[in-house]
Amino acid sequence: MERLKVKAILDKTVDHFNKYGIDNPRLDAEIMLAQILNMSRVNLYVNFDKPLTKEEVDRYREMIIARSKGIPVAYIIGEQEFMSLDFSVNEAVLIPRPETEHLVEGILDRLEDYKGDEPLKVCDIGTGSGAIIISLVKLSKRRMEGIGVDISKDALEVAKQNASKHNLDQDIDFRLGNLLEPISERVDVLVSNPPYIPTKDIEELQKEVKKEPLGALDGGEDGLDYYRQIIDEAPKKLRPSGIIGFEVGIGQAKDVASLLKEAGFSEIEIISDYSEIERVVLGINK
Ligand SMILES: C[S@@+](CC[C@H](N)C(=O)[O-])C[C@H]1O[C@@H](n2cnc3c(N)ncnc32)[C@H](O)[C@@H]1O
Repeated sequence: MERLKVKAILDKTVDHFNKYGIDNPRLDAEIMLAQILNMSRVNLYVNFDKPLTKEEVDRYREMIIARSKGIPVAYIIGEQEFMSLDFSVNEAVLIPRPETEHLVEGILDRLEDYKGDEPLKVCDIGTGSGAIIISLVKLSKRRMEGIGVDISKDALEVAKQNASKHNLDQDIDFRLGNLLEPISERVDVLVSNPPYIPTKDIEELQKEVKKEPLGALDGGEDGLDYYRQIIDEAPKKLRPSGIIGFEVGIGQAKDVASLLKEAGFSEIEIISDYSEIERVVLGINK
């Protein structure tokens, strides 16, 4: 029997995904096949006539079935790019989003003016895959001692794996616990992308998002529970003039900015993402 070739299997998969209402059928089909064939997506195009082995077709079929059930591509291939770095992901962690890159960039920008040669202590609350803290430590010109906190043991396993992948095992201390409780020292920078979806909106989420851990999404009645708790404790854990930075959900930036102001933070700044949505709130401790 003639073996299926790259172009033919991609076309068939796109038709199938269209029937299942998958949002980006071509992109998803290509990302998954590129991983199986261990080549870039661009290379698929110069290998359109390459025949697939039975084993490759079988593995691809399993991926197609999973994607048709609404499992996000990142979980299927076990990877997601963030700040041009590769992160391993599984169902224990939120898939790092492009919006969150604005938080990392905002902190890196503020650190440009930070004086002194001592390594900076930087803490990420609700670290998940470790995407934020790993990117900060990896990409900053400053030496950093990272701390990543999460309440999920399984998420911390993924974060540790990612730190190893980027040769940062010695630079980031991952701690299991509730918000700022595991932080006994004063830190220079506190960042967080906490769960921020209002409980009533969880049911309405896209089916892909609902495959992500509920503990990474649900921010309580108005979505602001975690911001209140973190901002309440932060002045005691941040050193004077230390930087705080949050990612926020749509429509939450002004509320979070007010919470920071009430807690005595200054130089409050709101940064919008590429869709002009207010995404990041930064401030400075007294
Ligand atoms: C929105 S996800 C962010 C993950 C990652 N920082 C990112 O930006 O991709 C929120 C994370 O907070 C963690 N989390 C939820 N409640 C927590 C708590 N009380 N203390 C510490 N972490 C918590 C969740 O397990 C999840 O990993």
